[in-house]
Amino acid sequence: MQELKFDVLNGQDVVVFAPRRYGKSSLVWRAMQQLLAEGVLVAYVNLMTTPTKEKLAEKLAAAVYESIASPLARAKERALTPFRGLRISPTITVDPEQGAYSFSFGVDHSPPDIDATLERLLELPAELGGAPGNRVALILDEFQEIEMIDPALPKLMRTIFEQQPEVARVYLGSRRHLMERLFNDENEPFWRSAKKVELGVIAPELFRGFIVRHFRRTRKTVEGNVVDELLERTMGHPYATQELCYFLWEQTPFDGTATTAELALALAAVLRSEHAHFQLRWDAASAVQKLILEALAREPGRPMTNAYRTRHALPPVSAIQAALRALVERELVVKEPDGSYRISEPFLDRWVQAL
Ligand SMILES: Nc1ncnc2c1ncn2[C@@H]1O[C@H](COP(=O)(O)OP(=O)(O)OP(=O)(O)O)[C@@H](O)[C@H]1O
Ligand SMILES: [Mg+2]
Repeated sequence: MQELKFDVLNGQDVVVFAPRRYGKSSLVWRAMQQLLAEGVLVAYVNLMTTPTKEKLAEKLAAAVYESIASPLARAKERALTPFRGLRISPTITVDPEQGAYSFSFGVDHSPPDIDATLERLLELPAELGGAPGNRVALILDEFQEIEMIDPALPKLMRTIFEQQPEVARVYLGSRRHLMERLFNDENEPFWRSAKKVELGVIAPELFRGFIVRHFRRTRKTVEGNVVDELLERTMGHPYATQELCYFLWEQTPFDGTATTAELALALAAVLRSEHAHFQLRWDAASAVQKLILEALAREPGRPMTNAYRTRHALPPVSAIQAALRALVERELVVKEPDGSYRISEPFLDRWVQAL
């Protein structure tokens, strides 16, 4: 968090990548609150909520208005002027309760019109906040979606961002292969444009104390060996740990102690609550992918070797190679630094074993 805040204050662009549910958004939200308290103007857009360029323009306009234009303007009405002058003029509405402004650009505009509108919106953070003494940051969450919105968007964005050294951008994303292609491929517009930060899991020794304290604080106790087993199970994956701890806490009566019996019940409860999600992911897998998932659930290892294939009755190497690649791209399976594979989605191995 220190590093992230420091980079933003210095106008350094950063890309934070990590698999799903590792705490990217949480981390940046925290940093954002602290930066706001220090007077930095921070606009946040989540690209998962902007499937089209019109939607992106709407969210961008709202964020730039709310977080940059409005705080800098003396009069609310004045702050709207740059938005009224966009190539596609938005319909602007105010939520009477929250007082929040929303912008609507309609649908199906000619590509040059919507591109010009987006371009202008992307220019605004620097233009509005560019005066000396101001600090401006733009956070783009779920950035891996960018090419799904329009394959030409990265180039458009990058061209504008290059001219705004005073604005710090923070890009967050999962889907490693998409993010890596965007930032590590020299043919891509974002190549080498941002400092790369990779979020890992949370170290067990940090998690252990936190979990023990939080049980105690709510009049419950958890045995040390149970915490160890729990962390071994989740491998420090932030969301999985939080989820399993929640169910464990729920299984434990007040003034009672969480033992391995409660942990087993908690694990079963997690599997029940994740069932629909796992079923969807399982249904989307091909036959070979299913075979590999079943094998890896029993034994993490090297599915391409003859010994492993024989042990688990797997098809020829060529078929496995393609299926493994797809599983890795979908982030169901991870390749370890030593070249072996394991199921990465927490609890999925248990669920597959129970099929
Ligand atoms: N520092 C932390 N300590 C403990 N748990 C955390 C921490 N940060 C995040 N978490 C847990 O991880 C969950 C996922 O966090 P968050 O949504 O920020 O991750 P993300 O990487 O942005 O996920 P996604 O890829 O789905 O957008 C949170 O709901 C929270 O339970
Ligand atoms: Mg997130």
